[in-house]
Amino acid sequence: MPVYCPSMASATILVVDDEQLIRWSLSNRLTEEGYRVLEAETAADAIRLARDGVDLVLLDYRLPDADGMTVLKQIKETTPETLVILLTAHSSVSMAVEAMRNGAYHYANKPFNLDEIVLLVEKALETTTLRREVRSLRASQAQPYTLDRIIGTDDAVVKMRALLKKVATGPGSTVLLTGESGTGKDLAAKVIHYASPRASKPFMNITCSALPETLLESELFGHERGAFTGADRQKHGLLESADGGTVFLDEIGEMVPLLQAKLLRFLEERAFKRVGGSADIHVDVRVIAATNRDLDEEVRKGKFRSDLFYRLNVVPIVLPPLRQRPKDIPRLVNFYVDLYNGEFRKRIQRVTPAAMERLSSYGWPGNIRELRNAVERAMLLAEGDELTVEDFPVRAGQTSADTVELPATGIDLEQWERSFVIQALDRSGWNQTKAAALLGVNRDQIRYRIEKFKLEKPVSSA
Ligand SMILES: Nc1ncnc2c1ncn2[C@@H]1O[C@H](COP(=O)(O)OP(=O)(O)OP(=O)(O)O)[C@@H](O)[C@H]1O
Ligand SMILES: [Mg+2]
Repeated sequence: MPVYCPSMASATILVVDDEQLIRWSLSNRLTEEGYRVLEAETAADAIRLARDGVDLVLLDYRLPDADGMTVLKQIKETTPETLVILLTAHSSVSMAVEAMRNGAYHYANKPFNLDEIVLLVEKALETTTLRREVRSLRASQAQPYTLDRIIGTDDAVVKMRALLKKVATGPGSTVLLTGESGTGKDLAAKVIHYASPRASKPFMNITCSALPETLLESELFGHERGAFTGADRQKHGLLESADGGTVFLDEIGEMVPLLQAKLLRFLEERAFKRVGGSADIHVDVRVIAATNRDLDEEVRKGKFRSDLFYRLNVVPIVLPPLRQRPKDIPRLVNFYVDLYNGEFRKRIQRVTPAAMERLSSYGWPGNIRELRNAVERAMLLAEGDELTVEDFPVRAGQTSADTVELPATGIDLEQWERSFVIQALDRSGWNQTKAAALLGVNRDQIRYRIEKFKLEKPVSSA
């Protein structure tokens, strides 16, 4: 049974042929079928019209100013979504193969039967409509935080996924996620929440390093009216707002001692007081904490309370750095290629073996975030239908962070950190998001460092 599909009937078709009679007969018939039809006599006209966006091109192979294959390539490069059906008088297998390889949807031999062409056009447009529908359905029903969103078959990842599942479905025990920047702590926290019975309740997160102490306290625990200057009304904190759900405390290692004590009490008694309040408030919240520091070490140095550490460390989950699981790199690369194909409406079919090799042997100090950014950038700039070595420029120090050699005389790490932060801010004109990307950290972490090093935006770059 034919299905009426408005987007199909109103599709725009470009008919390219230098023979007027052929253009006329195709155009006539397709208009009758309800399509909008444009005509071009030359390759140059065809390319110009296609650039404005048409759904399908019926393209004659032999044109006065260029051959159809050239036009096909050009169209596929500028508007990869456009469907092209090549019309040729000399049917040859090699030509058909070449056409398909260059992205043609199909080809038809001349002289053709109009009914056949109409059927072919209908089928082709159905695939675009379907493709678009599937894409938007996927986007709208996306479950971005399901367990299978965590990609990897390396043993460490398989175990981690199993642990996340167990934790999610179990009682609301506290979880401590540790791992370098970009290894997926945020993602893991969300996966736990959305796979747990708490999924329909709020997931709230806060980066402990992003706010000054007093602000963080009132964000977390709320405050009573008049608790401090400016507190002109009572405010619920994150813990209260997340009742029944999950609170994700990112960069817990940066939390100051006073708040560590208050958080400890909450974890032990499931109760807290708002700032300036005297009543205990009880809530049912699962706490997930994350850090890229070695908390054990912080405890030893006396910077982090040991009792809080043990309370948080009920279920420790360690996210492995990417360089320890290079076999997962191709899988991750392909995942992001698919993702950005959808987002950017590109049709990258593959990453060349040489490019994949380069990606697999790189050390990825910024872990999966850095890999995602590299693929995103390559996809934005790529012109053909594959990603090659050239699409992944060699970076300064294209080596694993492990292999950057420490000078024999040692360095002052803080000084280096400060210098890199300043350079990144300078280079990005003090755009914190861009500076963060240059350093493979997030914006909160840049903000934290701006405060830590007391950096100020120079007047000249304002
Ligand atoms: N195993 C994975 N599979 C697929 N994508 C992942 C995986 N782990 C992380 N990602 C993606 O990598 C990016 C960085 O992950 P995320 O923000 O969770 O890292 P993080 O550990 O919280 O980093 P930071 O310490 O800098 O906050 C995100 O886009 C995330 O979706
Ligand atoms: Mg994070």
